[in-house]
Amino acid sequence: MNTKEICRRLSVTTKMLRVYEDGGLIHPKRGDNNYREYSEEDVLRIQLIVMLRNLGFSVKEIERIFREKEDQADSVLYAFYFQLKAIEMQQCQLTQNHRNITAAINQMLAGTDPMESLKQSETSPMYEVIRDQWNFDEMAENYVQRFLEKDLAYQSGIEDARNFLRTLPQDCRILDVGGGTCHLWEELPEFRDVTILDNSLPMLLSGRQNFPGRKYVLGDVAEPAAEKILNGEHYDVVISTFLLHHIAYPFQERAVDRLLGWTKPGGVLYIVDRCFLSQEEKQCRKWIYQEMEDRKGLRSVDTEYFLIVGDFCDMLKRKGCSVEMKKTGAFVRSFRITVNE
Ligand SMILES: C[S@@+](CC[C@H](N)C(=O)[O-])C[C@H]1O[C@@H](n2cnc3c(N)ncnc32)[C@H](O)[C@@H]1O
Repeated sequence: MNTKEICRRLSVTTKMLRVYEDGGLIHPKRGDNNYREYSEEDVLRIQLIVMLRNLGFSVKEIERIFREKEDQADSVLYAFYFQLKAIEMQQCQLTQNHRNITAAINQMLAGTDPMESLKQSETSPMYEVIRDQWNFDEMAENYVQRFLEKDLAYQSGIEDARNFLRTLPQDCRILDVGGGTCHLWEELPEFRDVTILDNSLPMLLSGRQNFPGRKYVLGDVAEPAAEKILNGEHYDVVISTFLLHHIAYPFQERAVDRLLGWTKPGGVLYIVDRCFLSQEEKQCRKWIYQEMEDRKGLRSVDTEYFLIVGDFCDMLKRKGCSVEMKKTGAFVRSFRITVNE
């Protein structure tokens, strides 16, 4: 195929093809007349380049992706992941700008000074702004060994979850949301149909390295479009251990709705997490928890969104679920939630 044909077929310009060639992305052969000849392989590669350019990758970045793809598959995954993170930051900034400009226009329509509203800017919580404050990406390596091995309350919660899982048939379809490095599954090799969903790629890759036989899915359970992540799949059991206290209160219900939505009618949603009985108990007893955590050099309870047991159970009952609750360790409880048929 000559240059003219390829430009027509792929809606690219001669200039674009030269840029790709100069950047080392394509290497078309030369015919007898010294004109470029594009093979079917070149066509596929150009299609891929156009797609990556549309996703925002520069020619230099694409060249690196192609080079690294040959020797290190995960570095390509990471290149995509970093691009995703960059897009999320831009989206967040744009959403914020959109809201602030709308507010300024409304100030002007009301005949007041728009600068006042711009000075105050966006203050209401935005999911995108607060989601990444724990930075699991940086913690993924030896996560449990580094942060949770000596945490008896965590261990007791995981043991409780494992005991629950051991009562299930081995061919059960299970979804583990916020599954992190798959520590939960270390003693449960008999389950074959397990999908791990997490919003941190390094956590997922660390899990995949330890337990190659599972399915791994990147996704954020609390983002508005989360229902699309699993393409309409449903599971006999959805389990989530120590996830929800990382999701800010205003967004916890959205995450719970998603977990319930992924559970088959008549299935079970099993949640293990850090809890206080009420907001009052959180204020009164947080220092006990904090003292326990401080000894391990972890964060304070003020930066985490412990479930408030009363509110949490009320919310589930409002949704028509039945709940059995168990205390498994200090400030940790498990909730066996049955989703009505
Ligand atoms: C404390 S770790 C628990 C990991 C694992 N479930 C366990 O018990 O060892 C929390 C995990 O939830 C993930 N996570 C946090 N927020 C999330 C969200 N909104 N959607 C999906 N995963 C999330 C983190 O990346 C991390 O892997």
